[in-house]
Amino acid sequence: MEHFDVVVIGAGAAGLRCAIEAGRRGRKVLVLDHAAKPGEKIRISGGGRCNFTNVNIAPDRFLSSNPGFCISALRRRRPQDEMAWLRDAGIAFHEKTLGQLFCDDSAQQVVDLLVHDLKAAGGDLRLATMVDRVAKDGDGFRVAAGSDIACRSLVIATGGKSIPKMGATGFGYDIARQFGVPVTDTRPGLVPLTFETGLLQRTAPLSGVSAEAVVQAGKTRFREALLFTHRGLSGPAILQASSYWREGEAVTVNLAPDVDLFAQLRAARQTHGKQAPATLLAQHLPQRLARWIVEEQAVTGNVADLNDGRLKALAAAANAWSVKPVGSEGYRSAEVTLGGVDTRALDQRTMAVTAVPGLHFIGEVVDVTGWLGGYNFQWAWSSGWCAGQAV
Ligand code: FDA
Repeated sequence: MEHFDVVVIGAGAAGLRCAIEAGRRGRKVLVLDHAAKPGEKIRISGGGRCNFTNVNIAPDRFLSSNPGFCISALRRRRPQDEMAWLRDAGIAFHEKTLGQLFCDDSAQQVVDLLVHDLKAAGGDLRLATMVDRVAKDGDGFRVAAGSDIACRSLVIATGGKSIPKMGATGFGYDIARQFGVPVTDTRPGLVPLTFETGLLQRTAPLSGVSAEAVVQAGKTRFREALLFTHRGLSGPAILQASSYWREGEAVTVNLAPDVDLFAQLRAARQTHGKQAPATLLAQHLPQRLARWIVEEQAVTGNVADLNDGRLKALAAAANAWSVKPVGSEGYRSAEVTLGGVDTRALDQRTMAVTAVPGLHFIGEVVDVTGWLGGYNFQWAWSSGWCAGQAV
């Protein structure tokens, strides 16, 4: 039987960061992954440029049933550390919008750097390796992955359920349950929202239209781009709101967030009474959307023909459109999984299960989920780094 100090299951951002840190501390480390290549989600992230962190990292930009849990890790390993790491390796990056940092060239550079750092730290990486079983064995653990492997610390970094075709599994949750660690309900996050057939038929002419919008789900609102699709709504504003949206609820969309359209339409009634409402709306909205809103509201005639009630309804259709999605695109296209290993069972400094010494959970498998824009990788780096100091 082979012996390691640390076995990490999952060669993604969290697992590799953890293994590198542990290796640098002199631990004999093995990383196992069932995929043929490491860091596949890093490679495809950020449109191939990896939005690896965000300069505006703050705990209130993470969702969790235990919101304070992430604070310690995010303070100990910060965006500045990731920036220094890439800079030292000669990987150029830039800030795009809203504090989001992207590589100038390819996300593959980040994957290559992680693999290089792991090797330099003396770590071992085994890909295309199925893990059949893990079990407690005295003070440590035994991992059955082809052959038996013994280790003192076992780190679960297998991510969430999003994008199953890229190797995502519920493995981490199964291991948690095996060791009596609770798992909070999981659901897809950062995901496009879908419409029922009737609404879809009505919005079909809008497919491909995008607008800067404020989208509110529950009490949380985001101002970013919104995109009408052939299945419902997408774009960053919708992906963000989707993490706060619950089935059966409506989202409120302001399609012209800088303009009070009621006031504008009323003023226009005095000064440009002969103008068509769609022409006026099109000054603030994409033309197709302006026309669609007018048709949906069954408005005919000129703006002068409309009383305050009609103008108010027309303006509200754009400034406060309340729409009820029927569902989401699901794990098939969700960027993340909300929920996961219950953080109340973990030590916030080490990510260890307090009741099972030596067992750690890091990254997306844990019930900590960030906003769109580099937050999820930062959680992976930070939680992985913390575990790497402790194993
Ligand atoms: P991750 O999922 O990366 O890694 C888990 C690893 O475990 C995988 O290699 C998998 O093969 C392996 N594994 C799973 N089950 C296993 C088993 N049973 N046995 C062995 N191995 C197993 N975030 C961000 O901050 N910026 C961004 O730009 C993007 N962009 C983005 C685009 C797309 C399309 C997606 C789907 C997601 C993003 N994200 C993102 C989210 C980000 O990719 C995600 O939060 C992190 O990759 C999570 O890192 P982990 O290491 O926790 O899991």
